[in-house]
Amino acid sequence: LNASPSPTILPMTTAILSALPEEQGGLVQALQAPECITHAGRSFWRGRLLGQPVLLALSGVGKVAAATTATLLAERFGVARIVFTGVAGGLGDGVQVGDVVVAQDFLQHDMDASPIFPRWEVPGYGLARMPCDAALTTMLFEAASAYLTSDRAGFDPNNPAIAHRHAACAHQGLIVSGDRFVSTSAESAALRQALGAAGHQVLAVEMEGAAVAQVCRDYGLPFAAVRTISDRADDSAHVDFPHFVRHVASRYADHIIQGLLRAMPGGR
Ligand code: ADE
Repeated sequence: LNASPSPTILPMTTAILSALPEEQGGLVQALQAPECITHAGRSFWRGRLLGQPVLLALSGVGKVAAATTATLLAERFGVARIVFTGVAGGLGDGVQVGDVVVAQDFLQHDMDASPIFPRWEVPGYGLARMPCDAALTTMLFEAASAYLTSDRAGFDPNNPAIAHRHAACAHQGLIVSGDRFVSTSAESAALRQALGAAGHQVLAVEMEGAAVAQVCRDYGLPFAAVRTISDRADDSAHVDFPHFVRHVASRYADHIIQGLLRAMPGGR
């Protein structure tokens, strides 16, 4: 049992959570006065970005790992808010590789306690969709839109939207999470169809966000999430995903998170 005292972090610290080290890399590089804290097999980076106190953390992959990390951020580190940045598979019509989706709410697509509870409802919560914090989400959407319309994104030869000859868009809406990498056109069509038939218009799929949203709801912690679309969750997802994660994801995360921190009180 690790009974070490909780490490001190500055008041009003923003936790920035990513699933994979490749999604986090640029932010760690940019950190001022970086300090690494190891706990529960995880590394947490404490420091400042653009004058704001931040704690960079990796959720790991999947809902259980993400819930553990989010719980540590709330209980052990006492952060003021959590912002998730990472990649997702595009499910909605017109949600293309290189676009960005800011979550309005999250649903666990593999939650099914029917017929005792309605499909997708999380027992004990009385709802299927866990909302994100409205004010933080608005700020994050503005930061994402500003990045995509900036020259930086538009002239970056590695930006896949350019290779695909479309202007990258920022979307806002429902993201679904589950413990599966969705990598066939049949599965993504089935997900879109089943959710759509129940009135859930889904934009993107990933593996952690709904777990973090649920933990943040339990603790009353503001939460927002931005996901860059790395693949279309179809038969070529297994090719598109690693390429995108290696070459593009961290650049999007850097610019969008720095835009968000600059807009927050105390940012510069
Ligand atoms: N994250 C990025 N792409 C994904 C996909 N196709 N399925 C689940 N999570 C993802």
